[in-house]
Amino acid sequence: MKNKIISLLKNTEEEFVSGEKISEQLGITRAAIWKYMKMLKEDGYLIEAYTKKGYKLISSPDLLTYEEISNKLTTSFLGRNLLYYKTIDSTNNTAKNLANEGALDGTVLVAEKQTSGRGRLGRQWVSPEYKGIYTSFILRPKIEPMKAAKITQITAAAAYLTFKEFGIDSSIKWPNDIIVNGKKVCGILTELNCELNEINYLVVGIGINVNLDSDDFTEEISKIATSLKIANGKEINRKALLATLLNNFEKLYLDFIENENTSTALEICKSHSAIIGKDIKLIRKGEYFDAKAIDITDDGNLVVEYPNKEIATVFSGEVSVRIGDNYI
Ligand code: BTN
Repeated sequence: MKNKIISLLKNTEEEFVSGEKISEQLGITRAAIWKYMKMLKEDGYLIEAYTKKGYKLISSPDLLTYEEISNKLTTSFLGRNLLYYKTIDSTNNTAKNLANEGALDGTVLVAEKQTSGRGRLGRQWVSPEYKGIYTSFILRPKIEPMKAAKITQITAAAAYLTFKEFGIDSSIKWPNDIIVNGKKVCGILTELNCELNEINYLVVGIGINVNLDSDDFTEEISKIATSLKIANGKEINRKALLATLLNNFEKLYLDFIENENTSTALEICKSHSAIIGKDIKLIRKGEYFDAKAIDITDDGNLVVEYPNKEIATVFSGEVSVRIGDNYI
């Protein structure tokens, strides 16, 4: 009901919305309206009430709810079912549970804080409250499981385009990191549930360090991680950033699903790659291998050349990548 009241206050042409109108449209009593207004104030909404005139929304809090982002969303299906959590263990964990229970294609989970945010290869994802974007998309593409790696590349390209729209230049470190000023600002964790020939569901988890300050990271992590705010010198509007990410992702994703076209996304990943043309280290089960990154295949895998000139294709699930001798 709180959401309905906010939509009503936001989507009105009039300066004030009368108690009578709210009560009629939402089927609640005046006393109930008061109760909800009080709750909304506690959530950070500034709503002024004038006798005889009604209610006016003065300002909204920085929350990643559907009501707060929907006016900026242009998607047809992604995020139209948006599940909002103040605190969660991991949006990917809950997304997988919901997907197992039949959650709709395009369902998006967003949390303000994660208590067990996860990265690839069992790493932790720092997720302080109201400072980042922690989101997971539930997708049910009718594609072969082998092609799922493309969706991580589509996500990386969408993140790149999104940061660009906010004036931040980034590069993409295959398979799942977005780098700004040599440090990570965004990570993608794609998890797949499939049969031999078909995907049951895919969960694409995205973590973005938006307005984190350097003391939000431990000393160790701050060597390899940064935030958009640190890079940009000022806070970024998380609501606009999230909506832009969903819009960009859906465009590239639908091009893949409807037209089998991933050329735009892959072109972005290649031309803004942090590793193509560079000497890298591949870490496989704790062992380091020198290689040069050469290309990304149409399926979203990495082509490398080893020092003995052997050319090989590397799949994302099996390795982690370091650029030169860096930690990143
Ligand atoms: C990585 O860099 O290894 C991937 C990081 C992915 C983090 C996001 S935050 C939202 C979603 N929920 C998680 O627990 N992880 C992903």
